[in-house]
Amino acid sequence: MNTTYNIGFSFVMALLLFPAQAADINAGKNRSAMCMGCHGNAGVSNSGMFPSLAGQSSAYLESQLKHFRSGERSNATMNAMSKDLKDADIQNLAAYYASLPGKSAGGDASLAQLGKEKAAMCMGCHGNALQGNGQFPKLAGQHPEYISMQLANFKSGARKAGQMNAIAKTLSDDDIKALAEYAGSL
Ligand code: HEC
Ligand code: HEC
Repeated sequence: MNTTYNIGFSFVMALLLFPAQAADINAGKNRSAMCMGCHGNAGVSNSGMFPSLAGQSSAYLESQLKHFRSGERSNATMNAMSKDLKDADIQNLAAYYASLPGKSAGGDASLAQLGKEKAAMCMGCHGNALQGNGQFPKLAGQHPEYISMQLANFKSGARKAGQMNAIAKTLSDDDIKALAEYAGSL
């Protein structure tokens, strides 16, 4: 075997053993048929019980689907929905939802103003416009009811995420309501 052949052979073997894990948005779109009933036709849900997924960070979507699948994040519906998803399905679904345009859920204007004053402590992680980044989810435009519910879950410890558990403990119920209306209004 000459050296050129050897290098070429190793390269092909590496490709076969470690296929590139590029996310496939179209495959994610096809897989999303089973998600639409709750999360909306294009990732914008029309109920505060169901989070909108459109424009959410793909890294965050991926991590949450894996947490639901493993049971680390507990929710009977989503634990069942994610049970049979393979890593590639999760990657494709996350890329699909991240690629869609988000839409503001709207929020009560006077409460949103109050929330804005408290939101400075959230921006270091969630971004100046609460637009999210990587593992820090986008909060902008999300349904206020869903945000309030998650903050209450972080506060009680029902949903576990070290940083958010500590932060939510410092928030009163009124703070939570105002912050949720502000985020939803963006
Ligand atoms: C029957 C309704 C229903 C269906 C169908 C459903 N979900 Fe969900 N989903 C929910 C609910 C309810 C929550 C909120 C769970 C909670 O409170 O923690 C949720 C939460 C999520 C979250 C977390 C979002 C966030 O901001 O943290 C992701 C990601 C998600 N779903 C993806 C999917 C995907 C992908 C599918 C399809 C494979 C799907 N869901 C199907 C009801 C549903
Ligand atoms: C130190 C960084 C940090 C700060 C500051 C922070 N967060 Fe978070 N937040 C996170 C991380 C990380 C997650 C994702 C947790 C997980 O993986 O489950 C999160 C998740 C959330 C979620 C869940 C979103 C969803 O789609 O389910 C809400 C709501 C939230 N944060 C609100 C806030 C608010 C309101 C503030 C300010 C009072 C705040 N956060 C401050 C890091 C932070």
